[in-house]
Amino acid sequence: MTDANFNTIKQIAYQLTGISLSDHKKNMIYGRLSRRLRKLCLPDFNSYIQLISESESPETTDFINAITTNLTSFFREEHHFNHLRTEVLPRLMRTNMGSKRIRIWSAGCSTGEEPYSIAMVVSSFSSLAGWDVKILATDLDTNVVRKASQGIYNAERAEGIPNDYRKYLQYDKQNDRVRVHDRVKKIITFKPLNLLHTWPMKGPFDIIFCRNVVIYFDAETQRKLFDRYADILKPEGDLFIGHSESLHNITRRFSLCGRTMYKKVS
Ligand SMILES: C[S@@+](CC[C@H](N)C(=O)[O-])C[C@H]1O[C@@H](n2cnc3c(N)ncnc32)[C@H](O)[C@@H]1O
Repeated sequence: MTDANFNTIKQIAYQLTGISLSDHKKNMIYGRLSRRLRKLCLPDFNSYIQLISESESPETTDFINAITTNLTSFFREEHHFNHLRTEVLPRLMRTNMGSKRIRIWSAGCSTGEEPYSIAMVVSSFSSLAGWDVKILATDLDTNVVRKASQGIYNAERAEGIPNDYRKYLQYDKQNDRVRVHDRVKKIITFKPLNLLHTWPMKGPFDIIFCRNVVIYFDAETQRKLFDRYADILKPEGDLFIGHSESLHNITRRFSLCGRTMYKKVS
């Protein structure tokens, strides 16, 4: 992969996904795309670039799936889930008492650990029984959305789940796996969605989790995205972002209310 090849791949990745690949990712991208070249029996990166440059190329999905970084875990950044349990859900149970409806979006949900963690917290509220609570979980990478919708994980991935929530898993000792209970799973809808494209849903949402996604976006892409999040959130809706992300110098439509936790103000 020449530097010129890598620069073209960076441009295509940016146009398709908003992801800005930095130069130190070259080896990683080389490794991932080499597998695609072998699979497609292509002689070199020039041929691969030609393929992904075609409009509506069937390779686009696999290219996107190959360049995303999907690192995630159950109850990652646990203080978000504590805040959800102690502050956000109790407040929504008061403010939404009339409609008995709560809408949550996990945007960039990867393999599903994030929306399942949210769903476990929601399920722990017996007082929400009879309420219409739904979680929309989306990601651009179709492979991770497929994996997420299965709700089956290696048992070691469940080790980070606090004891109180382990009851929402079925242990399959023979295969060393865990399966998320159907009653937790059924409140989540998994869908592939590119955050840069038009969103099919109207909202409004009470809560958005968009954590460790915009870290790969430039400031302008982040500004547009957070503006759209503000539009689709209810007044005073909650936004959770990743541990190394910030809205400082990006948007004034949210105010900080805790570490990487925001509230919509306009
Ligand atoms: C590092 S994972 C974060 C997963 C989870 N939110 C967490 O914090 O554990 C980032 C996810 O963002 C997704 N992503 C990147 N660009 C995206 C885009 N333009 N639209 C939707 N999802 C995107 C990737 O596919 C990846 O699964």
